[in-house]
Amino acid sequence: MPMTQGLMRRKSIAAALANGDQGLARSLSGLDLTLLGIGAIIGAGIFVLTGVAAATKAGPALALSFVMGALACGFAALVYAELASTVPLSGSAYTYTYVTLGELPAWIIGWDLILEYALACATVAIGWSGYFLRLLEGIGITLPAALTHGPAEGGIVNLPAFAVMLLISLLLAVGVRQTSVANALIVILKLAVIGIFLYAAVPHVQPANWQPFMPFGWSGVMAGAGLIFFAYIGFDAVSTAAEEAKNPQRDMPIGIITSLVLCTLLYIAVTVVLTGIAPYSTLDVADPIAFALVQVGEHFAAGATAVGAVAGLTSVLLVMMYGQTRVFYAMSRDGLLPAAFSEVHPRFRTPARTTLATGLLIAIAAGVLPIHEVASLVNVGTLAAFVMVSVAVLYLRRAQPDLPRPFRTPWMPWTPIFAIVSCGYLIASLEAVTLWRFVIWMAIGVVVYFAYARRHSALRQA
Ligand code: ALA
Repeated sequence: MPMTQGLMRRKSIAAALANGDQGLARSLSGLDLTLLGIGAIIGAGIFVLTGVAAATKAGPALALSFVMGALACGFAALVYAELASTVPLSGSAYTYTYVTLGELPAWIIGWDLILEYALACATVAIGWSGYFLRLLEGIGITLPAALTHGPAEGGIVNLPAFAVMLLISLLLAVGVRQTSVANALIVILKLAVIGIFLYAAVPHVQPANWQPFMPFGWSGVMAGAGLIFFAYIGFDAVSTAAEEAKNPQRDMPIGIITSLVLCTLLYIAVTVVLTGIAPYSTLDVADPIAFALVQVGEHFAAGATAVGAVAGLTSVLLVMMYGQTRVFYAMSRDGLLPAAFSEVHPRFRTPARTTLATGLLIAIAAGVLPIHEVASLVNVGTLAAFVMVSVAVLYLRRAQPDLPRPFRTPWMPWTPIFAIVSCGYLIASLEAVTLWRFVIWMAIGVVVYFAYARRHSALRQA
């Protein structure tokens, strides 16, 4: 087989669909999918990163950063929805690319998703630690600073972040899965936390805090958008549940778009109020929402938000870590990663060993790395995946114009083009060091592809 043909070999959509329809129960409704989306979206982005982003990047204009992030995600969401309804299979962007663009692009996306999910877990674990420490303080326990910060911030290890990550992997390894009932409860809790924050904080808003509005200029707004983009990640997780949706054709787009719109509105409200009750420069702390409430004397509300944030972040961790193991699983099933990654434990019926090994690596990352650096790397990985998915949709419209598309991206070809441009703009707003790290990770991926994956691909064997 000529080499280029090998790189572009594709799974057929029909065969993949037939294959995918066998195992999982189709039980999720449009509402379930929306709740799943909100459960994955609201997390460390709004509860934690808003603080450092307002203090060091955008100032009170951070609300504009959220608008910019939402625009990029909105275009990407419409594009995702088309693929999720046309190819309703687990594996998300990785699977979509495999059936459309071919194996090498799919590998690149899969490799990229590993970075996205693994480091997103690390980011959320670090965020969890900030609120957990505030709760401990509330009951009079203070850990030494050396055990609450990584080396880059003058400590040794962020012990709570390390420990929670290990604990979550252990739970997933023995087969604890968040049910949609538990998810719905957690979503209500998270929305309640945001409600409490807004209710307690609004009376303390002082418009003077919004001046100067744009202390770091427009480049600051964009740098802020590059960081808080993290807050939106997760709506794509809805698409990973496509095989379990009752009516994916109708409900996927509903789930993806509704959860995104709702979260955007909440984020903008929280940011406007947060920067209204505390001077933006004071917000570079691990738990800005609770911190700001304490500053204005709302101690009860601060405690309540901290409890809710700890619970809410735990659920994001479960979903992200679950996603991580499933990406490994899908890639290994296709022969692109060693079979050990899809080895199912005989008793727990989960990929237990991979889960624990990956969990340990992520726990170490969470224990030693600073949150904004990990989050930025996740963002560039995700933005790159959005660009690839947009290219896939454009390509598929040309290559297979007659494919049944229950949901069609509106305003073709402009929506995917805007998605590519806006995600590209956000990528360009990130720090050079982040981009370099990303390039190195992807280069390693290409080497692994040619050294291992290409030769072991199940499609090649077939
Ligand atoms: N959007 C999710 C969060 O902010 C990943 O934690």
